[in-house]
Amino acid sequence: MAKKLKAAVIGTGMGRFHARSYAANKKVDLVALCDLNKPEAEWLAGELGVPHVFDNYAQMLDSVKLDIVSVVVPNHLHAPMTLDALERGIHVLCEKPLATTVADGEAMVALAEKQNLRLMVNLCSRFDPVNATVAKMVRDGDLGEVYYVRGGMMRRRGTPRLDFDSSGDLGRGAWFVQAEKAGGGALMDIGVHILDLCWWLAGCPAPVAVSGATFPDFRQAEFAKQKVRGDVDNGAAATIRCENGAQIFFEATWASNMKDEHYCKVYGTKAGASAMGEAMFYTTKAGKPADKPITPIPGITKDSYEHFVDAVLDPSIELNASGAGGLTILRILDAIRQAGRDGADTYLCDCCC
Ligand SMILES: NC(=O)c1ccc[n+]([C@@H]2O[C@H](COP(=O)([O-])OP(=O)(O)OC[C@H]3O[C@@H](n4cnc5c(N)ncnc54)[C@H](O)[C@@H]3O)[C@@H](O)[C@H]2O)c1
Repeated sequence: MAKKLKAAVIGTGMGRFHARSYAANKKVDLVALCDLNKPEAEWLAGELGVPHVFDNYAQMLDSVKLDIVSVVVPNHLHAPMTLDALERGIHVLCEKPLATTVADGEAMVALAEKQNLRLMVNLCSRFDPVNATVAKMVRDGDLGEVYYVRGGMMRRRGTPRLDFDSSGDLGRGAWFVQAEKAGGGALMDIGVHILDLCWWLAGCPAPVAVSGATFPDFRQAEFAKQKVRGDVDNGAAATIRCENGAQIFFEATWASNMKDEHYCKVYGTKAGASAMGEAMFYTTKAGKPADKPITPIPGITKDSYEHFVDAVLDPSIELNASGAGGLTILRILDAIRQAGRDGADTYLCDCCC
């Protein structure tokens, strides 16, 4: 039997999904969990048979021999915990967004490179079978040249803490709506997913100019009622012009007075495709529309956690959703955040992965 990776997870909210995938993976020994809420970590450890539980992550990194760790905590803690793990020679799967500041993201990517360790961001939309099939169609040239991608994650009511059960799996922490801990609101939470999906399906072209705006938070009365302080955006819309001439448009919001809408549409010179829900290939035959549903290619993708494990075990596997790609996305998010403050457009340097 080949070497098993010794794994740990920090954070047991979304972290429980990381932990359950590691626990089910024959290539992994899930040896430790850590959460400030130790009873919750103990409960999850009981479910999964994990021997060590901590409420102090540095203690865990120092006392348990680890190969990989998932960092699944509020966004402002991604950088310090990832840097501490990389310093100790541990590969990191970090939750999205990579960090709350570009400087932190740069430090994380630089240290992973210096240490020759894997750093992946859990941009899990890339691991959806329909999205992965459309990405392959783009790579195979089925769409011709991709010149425009537009996507949206527009919720009617889906603001963390306000609209999610505080004892549930997701969206429960008040930190989601606090700028110093989250780095932003819907832009950093779900905007990061749809922006990354659009950028990935465009073929990851280098972004050169960003024009955007953030949406006002109109739910302060509800925050006050629930005694939660909220000071972040309720969403954003932006256009990104890329080096190869392609254009990306995305929009994301936690709350709106409009029906839910989740979409991602890829426009190519030969054909078009929609991912995320609709899954259609738009093409013509003898000048007439010959559209057909996209059937996901069986086995085209594993889940993000399994992909990370495989990429750590086999250095020849190209990491999907690498730290470097996550940093490009963070630079775009930062430009939109800035536009939300001063209304200015941003020109980015050649900073693509
Ligand atoms: N990829 C996805 O689709 C997805 C979905 C949900 C959340 N997330 C990301 O996962 C991360 C965590 O989100 P969540 O929904 O689990 O939040 P959460 O608030 O539900 O859980 C965070 C957990 O981290 C723990 N924690 C906080 N500080 C800690 C510390 N210093 N040491 C140890 N534990 C600490 C908290 O006690 C809490 O249990 C965020 O970055 C979020 O953006 C990603």
